[in-house]
Amino acid sequence: MANKGRLGFSAADSLRYTPEVRTPLRLVWLAVRRGLAEFRGTPDLSEHAVVGRELGAAVLEEFRNRTVDPDSYVWLPCHPWQLDHVVGTQWARELATGEIVVLGEGPDDYLPTQSIRTMVNVSQPLRCQVKLPLKILNTSMYRGIPEHCTLAAPMVTQWLRGLWYRDEVFGRLGTELLGEVASVTVRHPQLSSAPGIPYQWTETLGCIWRDPLDPRLQPGESAWPLAAVLHRDSAGEPLVAAMIARSGVDASAWIGDLLATLLRPLLHLMHHYGITVNPHGENLAIICGPEGLPARLVIKDLVDDINVSTTPIEARGIEPDSHARVLPRKPWHILRQYLVDALLLGVLNPLAALLSDAGLLTADRFWGMTRGEIELYAAEHPQYADRLTATDLLDETFARYPLNGYRLSLGYADLDTRPPIPVTGRLPNQLSSVAAVRPSRPW
Ligand SMILES: Nc1ncnc2c1ncn2[C@@H]1O[C@H](COP(=O)(O)OP(=O)(O)OP(=O)(O)O)[C@@H](O)[C@H]1O
Ligand SMILES: [Mg+2]
Repeated sequence: MANKGRLGFSAADSLRYTPEVRTPLRLVWLAVRRGLAEFRGTPDLSEHAVVGRELGAAVLEEFRNRTVDPDSYVWLPCHPWQLDHVVGTQWARELATGEIVVLGEGPDDYLPTQSIRTMVNVSQPLRCQVKLPLKILNTSMYRGIPEHCTLAAPMVTQWLRGLWYRDEVFGRLGTELLGEVASVTVRHPQLSSAPGIPYQWTETLGCIWRDPLDPRLQPGESAWPLAAVLHRDSAGEPLVAAMIARSGVDASAWIGDLLATLLRPLLHLMHHYGITVNPHGENLAIICGPEGLPARLVIKDLVDDINVSTTPIEARGIEPDSHARVLPRKPWHILRQYLVDALLLGVLNPLAALLSDAGLLTADRFWGMTRGEIELYAAEHPQYADRLTATDLLDETFARYPLNGYRLSLGYADLDTRPPIPVTGRLPNQLSSVAAVRPSRPW
């Protein structure tokens, strides 16, 4: 990750702003002239409520005193690296004319998450996570926030929340959705309207406020990003081995709980609603109960990563109709591909290898248990037989989208849109031939 994940950071930046160094940082708040900037929130959230809660009364007052006409500005946090490297230069005119005013550092310490550009508030864990544009090339793209995403985020959250709170399965499984509850959009007066401008220059300011995870935890619960199951410590010991040992159950029981925690809500979301998220190790988190057993799933990173089936589905209710771009319609086999790439190939494949290397579980048993979850879902939901055939996760092969190697053939030229990843052949599916192991947890 270090060599491909942060092109644009200097060595000193990497020591300052990356998640592994765990160095708290403060965000800098900007005031941007209303009209240039636009606030949006879910219907229960006003702009004043969000900014007031994020800053607290004393800092709010202090910042108000720093602008001549505070109510004619929209306020938002900015990453200090972005301020120095992008805002200070690309927005120099607005800074000079007072259309943008630097209010000062916010009151709280934040730590970057694995995506580097999303910050978790460690001083006040009940305050929001903050997703920010950071003009570094990370995996496949520069980490800006396109204007259609900031504009749509609260509306998409409101719609999904409605489904979530009415849903008996998510309720019973305790599946948590971290909503993107408010946003600020800032359009660059020249670059955002000129044609052909590389996208990384049109997405440089703005923010998304996301629900924090801490308030969702019950007493005794703990949470970790799904990617942690692949982590090895400096001595090469897998973290998952320590987590299993601490729980006091055997690997098979612990992994059984992990697979049920992961797959049940994702299969339900895909087949009952025809909706996918992008379920990779950074976008999902696992909540463990007091005994350290995987119990509940946390899903985040919604806008721009949600896809819905081309087939209309009544259970989806009334979809936000003015944001078609962030709710792309996809055929079932493409919806399936999100689960395949992000979860099966991205997390479960390396996890199977790691467990087998560590002598914890054979690959056959691991895939048999995974198949058992998929078959259990199918057996319990005969009404979705057609959808399950269309998303067949037990197929012999899957399409191959080589995300990592793609950069080598794509090169580093500036593009005006994010590049789609091409298909290059097929990959075998371990699930297709293995014998299913029936889950011990009933559906
Ligand atoms: N194990 C991992 N799996 C996937 N992505 C990872 C992992 N570890 C770090 N990352 C980084 O996390 C980011 C994942 O991209 P994605 O588009 O899901 O997140 P984002 O939109 O940038 O931020 P967020 O998830 O905070 O909303 C990439 O920048 C990638 O390099
Ligand atoms: Mg993400």
